[in-house]
Amino acid sequence: MAAYKEVYEGWKQNPEEFWANAAKKISWHKPADKIFDANAGTYGRWFAGAECNTCYNAVDRHVNAGHGQRDAIIYDSPITGHKETYTYNDLKMQTQALAAVLLDSGVEKGDRVIIYMPMIPQAVIAMLACARIGAVHSVVFGGFAANELATRLNDAKPKAIISASCGVEPNRIVAYKPLLDEAIELATHKPEKCIVFQRKELVCDLKEGRDINYHAAIVDEIERHRVVDCVPVMATDPLYILYTSGTTGQPKGVVRDNGGHMVALQWSMEYLYGIKPGEVFWAASDVGWVVGHSYIVYAPLIYGATTVVFEGKPVGTPDAGTFWRVINEHNVVALFTAPTAFRAIKKEDPNGEFIKKYDLSMLRTLFLAGERADPDTVQWAEDMLKVPVIDHWWQTETGWAIAANPVGIELMPIVHGSPTVAMPGYDVQIVGADGHPVPANEMGNIVIKLPLAPGNLPGLWHNDERFKSSYLDEFPGYYQTGDAGYMDENGYLYIMSRTDDIINVAGHRLSTGAMEEVLAAHPDVAECAVIGIADKLKGQLPAGFVVLKSGVDRTPMDIEKELIKLVREKIGPVAAFKIAVTVDRLPKTRSGKILRGTMRAIADHEEYKMPATIDDPTILSEIEDALREHGI
Ligand code: COA
Ligand code: AMP
Repeated sequence: MAAYKEVYEGWKQNPEEFWANAAKKISWHKPADKIFDANAGTYGRWFAGAECNTCYNAVDRHVNAGHGQRDAIIYDSPITGHKETYTYNDLKMQTQALAAVLLDSGVEKGDRVIIYMPMIPQAVIAMLACARIGAVHSVVFGGFAANELATRLNDAKPKAIISASCGVEPNRIVAYKPLLDEAIELATHKPEKCIVFQRKELVCDLKEGRDINYHAAIVDEIERHRVVDCVPVMATDPLYILYTSGTTGQPKGVVRDNGGHMVALQWSMEYLYGIKPGEVFWAASDVGWVVGHSYIVYAPLIYGATTVVFEGKPVGTPDAGTFWRVINEHNVVALFTAPTAFRAIKKEDPNGEFIKKYDLSMLRTLFLAGERADPDTVQWAEDMLKVPVIDHWWQTETGWAIAANPVGIELMPIVHGSPTVAMPGYDVQIVGADGHPVPANEMGNIVIKLPLAPGNLPGLWHNDERFKSSYLDEFPGYYQTGDAGYMDENGYLYIMSRTDDIINVAGHRLSTGAMEEVLAAHPDVAECAVIGIADKLKGQLPAGFVVLKSGVDRTPMDIEKELIKLVREKIGPVAAFKIAVTVDRLPKTRSGKILRGTMRAIADHEEYKMPATIDDPTILSEIEDALREHGI
């Protein structure tokens, strides 16, 4: 453990010196006045006074250093059959052209741009083009419905939207344009321009005066050899806003800055992931999630590695061997995905027959994150791939790992069920409800001593109050992660559950509160509760319990179907809301609090203690009966 301990202690003794050294690997237009300014922002700001540009670091500097011919993006889409490679030269040309289109659309430094796109290289180019001109992007995952997009439009108030005509899912083509038009209709804030990439799988109509054909506009700019320089921004200026689930239907706009983000991601590629520039790094996620932002787009490109944009699923596109084909074909040295993807592969191919068909000797490490990595899945992956399987823990808010096994420093002993140890930048502690530290191996709230590490959120978009009340108020001087768990005597962390109403479905973070808002809005529903129940494949699945208003004359089954449809329409297919159960009453405490934990234990067939404060214990058997009727 010597090497890691040395690095971690080095950081702890002098965090500013640590990050100042890490910052030497980034190109700055102007160096920082202060590495950390404790008086700025809510809890201080990193690299205050520095000027930089993230697109310059991710693209131009590699071209300027003579690596223009190096592959930047490998696009592999088993779902459509397309493959394409972009060198850093290509990426610069494309990004510059789209940046020109944005400028011509009236987008200026500081303006927001929403990106609503599937997993195609144009999504990466769109993010970089915004960064190039200092515009703030906000990517919205394609699996969200129009209503969710409208909520983000109203909050981010973008000047423009970059989108595509469609996404392609294994069972259907997802027409994006009607969703986009509906969202604009629903939103009170209207963007001035929509730049739409037409995919040949489904071409859409463009609205005159508002919509721009992405491809035609780009070609035009490339022919004109338009030069668009990278605009220097403050290191503390926002690079992007990424909305993530909170406990209500109003998502939280997590803000990422430019300077600290680049420094942290660059550091992580070398020391955490153990990658060398020029190697192929593959994060099998989606640009709509934080993993996609950090490890499909920014980290590999800032570092000068090659990233893979994969448009497919771990199974069914066409089979459970897709991941191995991609690794083999593109020389992937490290794969990063969610445990659920491995559970899906294991289910289809338990003996790893597909793995045997490919030479995977170039693969050095598998990284897992996004949800708890269950020991069975980790064991299976180790047995099959014969490489270290590294669980690491982080959140949209942090942008990079809080705890990991830093293979670029040393491979520490792997303990199944633990994402290993805190990374430099994070003083992680486990505290009880009173805010005092609990002993080793005892469960508690996982908190991080302020200040947060570079790259972590400085706040929520235009909402300091919510930032403070959600994360900083409960344990003064600490950031509350919302996760519960424990730390053993060796400093290994164990992340066990959330302390709030957030659930994790197939590595996707969802709010049960948001789903409850949708169910409660149904005219026949008197009250409801949504809980996350255990699922072998997706980790958790949402299950909604509803009590109907008296006098409702339709069958519960009809209403349950409507509720399932409603959540899909209002939140989106990604919510995977397929279980709605009508009950006569919800179990509550005498003070009227719904006993969600007990309902979850019943649904998961776990032993549970009768809550001492329960109002009417007979309701629990009614819940059991209702679940049994639904086959649960
Ligand atoms: N656009 C439109 N719809 C989308 C979408 C997108 N980008 N992504 C997912 N959906 C839809 C799916 O088609 C599915 O719809 P359906 O109800 O009609 O089948 C629904 O949303 C649920 O999607 P998902 O949870 O992904 O389930 P799945 O059954 O399609 O696939 C897995 C299951 C496990 C294979 C898949 O979830 C997976 O690959 N997970 C990897 C985890 C991951 O990437 N996590 C990101 C953080 S690291
Ligand atoms: P997201 O913001 O979507 O990345 O989700 C973050 C949440 O996912 C965390 O707060 C955890 O609850 C969970 N999570 C992410 N990675 C892990 C992990 N390695 N182990 C356990 N839980 C994880």
